Amino acid sequence: MSAASDTNKDRVFIFDTTLRDGEQSPGATMTLEEKLQVAETLDDMGVDIIEAGFPIASNGDFEAVVAVAKQVKRSTVAGLARAISADIDRAGEAVRHAQRGRIHTFVSTSPIHLAHQMKKTEDEVIEIIARTVAQARNLIDDVEWSAMDATRTPLEFLKRCVETAIKAGATTINLPDTVGYAVPDEHEKMFRDIITMVPGADKAIFSAHCHNDLGLAVANSLAAVRGGARQVECTINGLGERAGNAALEEIVMALRTRGDAMPYHTEIESTHLARASKVVSAAANFPVQYNKAIVGKNAFAHESGIHQDGMLKNAETYEIMTPASVGIKETTLVMGKHSGRAAFKDKLRELGYELGDNAFQEAFVRFKDLADRKKHVYDADIVALVDDEVGSV
Ligand code: KIV
Ligand code: ZN
Repeated sequence: MSAASDTNKDRVFIFDTTLRDGEQSPGATMTLEEKLQVAETLDDMGVDIIEAGFPIASNGDFEAVVAVAKQVKRSTVAGLARAISADIDRAGEAVRHAQRGRIHTFVSTSPIHLAHQMKKTEDEVIEIIARTVAQARNLIDDVEWSAMDATRTPLEFLKRCVETAIKAGATTINLPDTVGYAVPDEHEKMFRDIITMVPGADKAIFSAHCHNDLGLAVANSLAAVRGGARQVECTINGLGERAGNAALEEIVMALRTRGDAMPYHTEIESTHLARASKVVSAAANFPVQYNKAIVGKNAFAHESGIHQDGMLKNAETYEIMTPASVGIKETTLVMGKHSGRAAFKDKLRELGYELGDNAFQEAFVRFKDLADRKKHVYDADIVALVDDEVGSV
């Protein structure tokens, strides 16, 4: 179902731009095969819109958008275009191979971009929006228009731009926080003001596209949803220019876990998230930080004795979602110097040992001693330690 035709007002459409904004991350270039694998993963997971690339950027990018458009079964496939006639034609040519295609065209709207990058007046930008959105709309029914650097654009001018884009036929209006400058309350207000004040705003879906320069991309995206946005643009693992884009897995799980505070939902199958993270990390050759929310190696790992003890009694003591819900097999209790008796006993049981009280006590002391000297205590270390202990009795 297309965003514009969905009547469920609490549904948030997920627009993934891993293959476009994500790939713009220095060093993250992907081959055609890798892009197709990422696209297949996103499609299977239920991503609503996949931004497959920037068709005018190179022949390779064009071919990749065409290949993704032909392969994808469920998602809408978008191609990016500047507000330039040749870009829009090229994007239209690429996405027409999709079952559902979208042209995503953008122009800068902030004073700093107008003065230094575009060297255009506000009136000239309004004329460009009207002309380029209409051109895109003549090629395809699904047109997204973005106000680049929207969050540093005066509200009055932003309103004129949005009204012009909607009149020219844009079905989605994206208000990007291009440089990661926004803070949540202000971001929510910007969306609410634009949506309530612009004539014809009810004809379009509003979209947030947040960069992470201040580490606020996910918080700002959620604030935008509170302000009325119903599409969120994001990437797997938060890959993207500079500090990255809002992380898809964080948005999806925040909405799923805290539906009580934020009554909105996505149609993403969250059990695919861990695999998607691995696929993108391998394709873009970008490691995922250990403590990355949702998909990092440590996201469901516990080392401290107090936490491990709690986890062994009831997982809800220290986990707010299950590992299974994001496609991770199980919680790990990492054995280290912070581990306590309960976890050590559990580990011994898992390794096939049932020790009497004295032997257990001895083994625990030796384990703590080892953990003080060694960063990682592996199962094999514990087996060796207990076998030594048992052998020496
Ligand atoms: O950050 C941005 O403004 C963009 C646009 C092209 C949507 O990526
Ligand atoms: Zn961006």
